[in-house]
Amino acid sequence: MPVSLFPEAPDVLPARQNKRRIAETFGKAASTYDAAATLQQRVAARARLGLPELGAQSSILDMGCGTGNETHALLSRYPNADITGLDISQGMLDFASENPALANCHWAIGDIEELPFEEETFDLVFSSLAIQWCDCLSEVMAQVHRVLKPGGWFVYSTLTEGSLHELSSAWQSVDDKPHVNTYESLARQKQRAADSDLKVVSLRQQTETLYYPTVTHLLREMKALGANTVVEKQQKGLAGRSVLRKLSEGYKPFATEKGLPASYQVVYGVLHKAAYEN
Ligand SMILES: C[S@@+](CC[C@H](N)C(=O)[O-])C[C@H]1O[C@@H](n2cnc3c(N)ncnc32)[C@H](O)[C@@H]1O
Repeated sequence: MPVSLFPEAPDVLPARQNKRRIAETFGKAASTYDAAATLQQRVAARARLGLPELGAQSSILDMGCGTGNETHALLSRYPNADITGLDISQGMLDFASENPALANCHWAIGDIEELPFEEETFDLVFSSLAIQWCDCLSEVMAQVHRVLKPGGWFVYSTLTEGSLHELSSAWQSVDDKPHVNTYESLARQKQRAADSDLKVVSLRQQTETLYYPTVTHLLREMKALGANTVVEKQQKGLAGRSVLRKLSEGYKPFATEKGLPASYQVVYGVLHKAAYEN
């Protein structure tokens, strides 16, 4: 069993504390994640459209594998490949590695921004809705470039500016604290990709909207997913009754016939590492 990434230390840096909170929150949600993961499944299916043809004995990394849904999809698409699922959350990895359908996969605990692999290990790195939890997309791309073999592929989805803007706006009618994570603009993400050592094959944005009967349903779903860590804020439980009332009022201007919308701005990327480097 891999050792904890976060041994108790009194002087953990803020960035490490955030990652510890992200890992713990996802870990607690491992058993409820799959039933709540409507957006994640929809997005991953679109991200998979960018998957390349690979040779029979390929080596693949699923980065931020969570419960292993996409590790499973990768195994179906590339049945003879050697597949590794990596996640920062021990709870998620425990859940994924108990799936008998994934018995032949390898599992690694680790941080996407410090990948625990040798250089030129993988033919394909896939990642769906995980890298938005990282501190710096440029570092993610540098790490992916390092572990990809020449000629390898990076296929991913992540979030960009404007995701959950309705919830963010509704919270502003409650207080001025950060309650919703913010994401880099598509222009900035494109610049980071262009500045990386990987070649951009495609990079596009698409909106995904889910609808909820009440704000409480949305907040509960985020908790069930483990996606409720607000990076700039200390964790607290679900809001109390008076806060929820104000939050619902603040959400009302967005209400539609289908319910309360929660929109996500999703970026889909396909990047390639040159076959022969200078
Ligand atoms: C929304 S889930 C997505 C899981 C899976 N890819 C899917 O599509 O269902 C995000 C996952 O990324 C993991 N994660 C977050 N930050 C990470 C990091 N810095 N390094 C590795 N994994 C990370 C979380 O623990 C969580 O399991």
